[in-house]
Amino acid sequence: MIAVQHLVKKFGLRTAVNDISFEVAKGEVLGFLGPNGAGKSTTMRMITCFIPPTAGTATVCGHDILRDSVAVRRAIGYLPENAPVYTDMTVAGYLHFIAEMRGLRGTAARTRVGQIMESCNLAGVGAQSVGTLSKGYKQRVCFAQAILHDPPVLVLDEPTDGLDPNQKHEVRQLIKRMGKDKCIVLSTHILEEVDAVCTRAIIIAKGTIVANGTPAELRAQSELHDAVTLTLRGVAEDTAVPFLSALANVYHAKVLERINGSLLIRVFPKEGKQIAHTISSAVRDKRWDVEEFRVEQGRLDEVFRKVTLG
Ligand SMILES: Nc1ncnc2c1ncn2[C@@H]1O[C@H](COP(=O)(O)OP(=O)(O)OP(=O)(O)O)[C@@H](O)[C@H]1O
Ligand SMILES: [Mg+2]
Repeated sequence: MIAVQHLVKKFGLRTAVNDISFEVAKGEVLGFLGPNGAGKSTTMRMITCFIPPTAGTATVCGHDILRDSVAVRRAIGYLPENAPVYTDMTVAGYLHFIAEMRGLRGTAARTRVGQIMESCNLAGVGAQSVGTLSKGYKQRVCFAQAILHDPPVLVLDEPTDGLDPNQKHEVRQLIKRMGKDKCIVLSTHILEEVDAVCTRAIIIAKGTIVANGTPAELRAQSELHDAVTLTLRGVAEDTAVPFLSALANVYHAKVLERINGSLLIRVFPKEGKQIAHTISSAVRDKRWDVEEFRVEQGRLDEVFRKVTLG
């Protein structure tokens, strides 16, 4: 439903987005990750026809952003960064205005605004002017305008920024529900959000894509992936570490912590090898007292650092 082809954006001499291409299908929730200034918002602004690209193009539901921008805007709900909403309108007044802009009139508009205020937890502030709302409530209003016309494509620039933990949870649930029959692109700095809602993530750095995969695929790039962490009770360090290090396919073992006679040890595999089974049967043979045994999935924050700083 979104196909981005070689998008480039230059601001003067600075290249903010440097030849980005990707596709997003119906039913996908694509997470956009990357350091500050990586080009996430700029890419979203181009897809939503907010700014023109310097080169390249994109299509949304088959409509080209350059040749058919009105059709693209109809198909998209866009939550821009920092919730730019008209501050001197009331919440209800603003959402009515958006409903009319989206072609709804009379009862249809009123009903839809009522529903959306309910689902975005805005019912209590309908008569308040937007400028006097707290940051999180402004964000909710902006989210409400993005989904008001029930568009097939949503582009959400940091949708949970500024929300309290309960509201974050609700917005994530809403995104997940909507993601089943829409196509959603969202940016975030919260890596746990990727696990919570995204079916796939793209990491961009300095305007280019440096990683693209499911959360599990990205995690598999972590050095921790398939390492085994275990806690042994009553075993000497100079017995345990050399023993574990010498097992088949083990790269090395190290003690992470010593807690009251227990050792917290991490054992790393040689590249691409699985060691969990070897280790579990070896420690069982030794009849060592194992308090905890865990196979690591890998960590997104580590992968993020590796691909954006490396
Ligand atoms: N209108 C503009 N004029 C000049 N430079 C701009 C403009 N908009 C963005 N930039 C620059 O483009 C680069 C990418 O900015 P962008 O806002 O896309 O980053 P981002 O990935 O969204 O970052 P953040 O995580 O901080 O939101 C930055 O260097 C920024 O300063
Ligand atoms: Mg941004």
